[in-house]
Amino acid sequence: MLEAMNAPEMYRRQYLDALGITRWEPRGGAAASVAQPVPATSGNSIAPGIVASEPVVLRSSSNTSVDSADWVALEAAVSSCTKCCLHATRTQTVFGVGNRSAQWMFIGEAPGADEDRQGEPFVGRAGQLLNAILFAMGLQRKEVYIANVIKCRPPGNRDPQPEEISQCEPYLIRQIELIKPKLIVALGRHAAHSLLKTEVPLGKLRGQRLSYHGTPLIVTYHPAYLLRNPADKRKVWDDLCLAKTVLEKMEQP
Ligand code: URA
Repeated sequence: MLEAMNAPEMYRRQYLDALGITRWEPRGGAAASVAQPVPATSGNSIAPGIVASEPVVLRSSSNTSVDSADWVALEAAVSSCTKCCLHATRTQTVFGVGNRSAQWMFIGEAPGADEDRQGEPFVGRAGQLLNAILFAMGLQRKEVYIANVIKCRPPGNRDPQPEEISQCEPYLIRQIELIKPKLIVALGRHAAHSLLKTEVPLGKLRGQRLSYHGTPLIVTYHPAYLLRNPADKRKVWDDLCLAKTVLEKMEQP
């Protein structure tokens, strides 16, 4: 069987096995090993009994140029930003990477040491795991867009502070507006809470279709969390199966 398989498919299977994830099979094939998508809840419910309002996007007058910036202006604004104290300790800003017309947008928390050094999101160990997950989903890193809520590394990889998140938020909002992704995946608590303007625990947010201003949003665990809690890789896989199902349904006539 393996001889008949093309190389990318073989690698995908090897990755999935290495991740301990049941493989995604084409419809009609090997039904026993297909990861079953979690049924999507309808509407905008955040968790059973909790209804998410559409997040209120606060735009202050000082962000006017960011609000209407094109990619060049936005990148320049980010790279010269001194709005919070993180600029003092960063090596460089970490803007975002990938296809600017992507269907899928993955949003993480903040750069770590590797990202601060290289200027690109998710290039460290968590990034390698994200790459493996993307590959397992049949996606290439260059075809999705990857960004963070925070564009500068918090020293010592501490949690981003609310003030830092709110100062950086206009940049992410503008990235989303420019990309117009068909679906957003929020990786971890900070991305989920910042996008949804909620403090509902991540475990209650995942496993359902949510919405960011009308764009479907799926919440899942952060790859760095998965490195510490590999048993939850299965849950991430289920969340991404749901995301794929949501996207496929949108593509149906
Ligand atoms: N964790 C994140 O949230 N983002 C990165 O870019 C790297 C690690």
